[in-house]
Amino acid sequence: MSESPLVSIESLPRRIGATVRVGGWVTHHRAKGKLAFLVVRDGTGTVQCVVSKADVGDAAFDAASALTIESSLVAEGEVRADPRSPSGVELGVKSLRPVGASPDYPITPKEHGDAFLMEHRHLWLRSSRQHAVLRIRHEVERAVMDFLHDEGFIRFDTPILTPCAAEGTSNLFATEYFDLGKAYLAQTGQLYVEAGMMSLGRVYCFGPTFRAEKSKTRRHLCEFWMVEPEAAFVDHDGNLDLQQRMFSFVVERCLERRRAELTLLERDLAALERVKPPFPRITYDDALARIAAAATEEMPALSWGEDLGAPHEVFLSNQFDRPVFVERYPAAIKAFYMQPDPARPEVVLCADMLAPGFGEIIGGSQRIFDEALLRRRLEEHGLDAGNYRWYLDLRKYGSVPHSGFGMGIERAVLWITGLSHVREAIPFSRTLYRIYP
Ligand code: 4AD
Ligand code: MG
Repeated sequence: MSESPLVSIESLPRRIGATVRVGGWVTHHRAKGKLAFLVVRDGTGTVQCVVSKADVGDAAFDAASALTIESSLVAEGEVRADPRSPSGVELGVKSLRPVGASPDYPITPKEHGDAFLMEHRHLWLRSSRQHAVLRIRHEVERAVMDFLHDEGFIRFDTPILTPCAAEGTSNLFATEYFDLGKAYLAQTGQLYVEAGMMSLGRVYCFGPTFRAEKSKTRRHLCEFWMVEPEAAFVDHDGNLDLQQRMFSFVVERCLERRRAELTLLERDLAALERVKPPFPRITYDDALARIAAAATEEMPALSWGEDLGAPHEVFLSNQFDRPVFVERYPAAIKAFYMQPDPARPEVVLCADMLAPGFGEIIGGSQRIFDEALLRRRLEEHGLDAGNYRWYLDLRKYGSVPHSGFGMGIERAVLWITGLSHVREAIPFSRTLYRIYP
């Protein structure tokens, strides 16, 4: 006789009284006389399985009692109401089959250091906090796509192997590309989504991006995922409006669908509930004045033309109860493609969205419209215009005002979950000193 299909643990509260089979991994176990209690998780939830010697017989009871942490099993039993359990149910086991043993599981309830946990990342992923973070990451990604879809954006997948730089030349990962010279791992899909935008109007790319960042901050990865919307006939103001609506939508979605995970992570939900448009806007000049008025050794005042550092961003972001846009940075410290402010060409129509207590999560801008200006900018940045012929063509044939932005998924997840380091916001992080596992 064939066995009945497995059901998800998440679905058990709807199956009280039924006999079902679940499959999963043991997270806790204890035995008391002729009873063994196994807490089992399957990715969708956890349930306590109660094994009684009288019900399953001596051999199965001994097998159940011998199951260690993270060993896997299939259990059949009756779903019983249990008001003491968080899900309201337990499983009264009728039969149980061990599947994979797990001798000496290296991660134990005691405190482990960061280095140990990162070395065992492939196993650490199973712990309840990591599990919650990964579910929230999934929700963020899905919410972004739902939002953009509803706003009429078409997904436009951009290449990862690219012939030239797009976000500075100091952090490129290079590889040999047959007889054609060097190829670089994409730092952004932006230049390509600009081409897609001229075909489809509103597009976005969503994929891994790469930066050989020699920095060890809690915000930097060498490989991170970015969503980059780009829209025709949208100016700087329209760009900020889209960003604030998208980020609010994502946060609201997490509050709605991942409240249990956020609570497990002890996230301050009130801070998330305040994320509603409109977000405050300050200029780079305002930012410098605010910083000067509160300067300290850790957060020195800046002269005009210097970029904000992490302490500056944390300070500024802490002055507001929701994310803040810092706009109109000096052209010299921003990427070559940003449109100068017509009223003041030494600054560009760009903004970074800083999240409270954290800093930049989104960077975006209106793009240069004019071919001659773009060519000049490439030169000023020491970039060979010959490599950007196709990108210049976009200004030659039916150029339109357009804008876009990039949101780093890990930074968004980091802030939403309240984690302290971006390496926990991605399944397997790539950082300066670690590429294993
Ligand atoms: O500000 P960035 O460099 O902007 C761009 O790449 C533009 N081409 C985006 C666009 O306009 N289409 O990066 C955008 C975002 C940052 O705000 C940050 O969230 C994330 O990408 N990011 C990183 N995340 C983790 N590790 C790093 N090293 C990151 N660098 C950028
Ligand atoms: Mg940026």
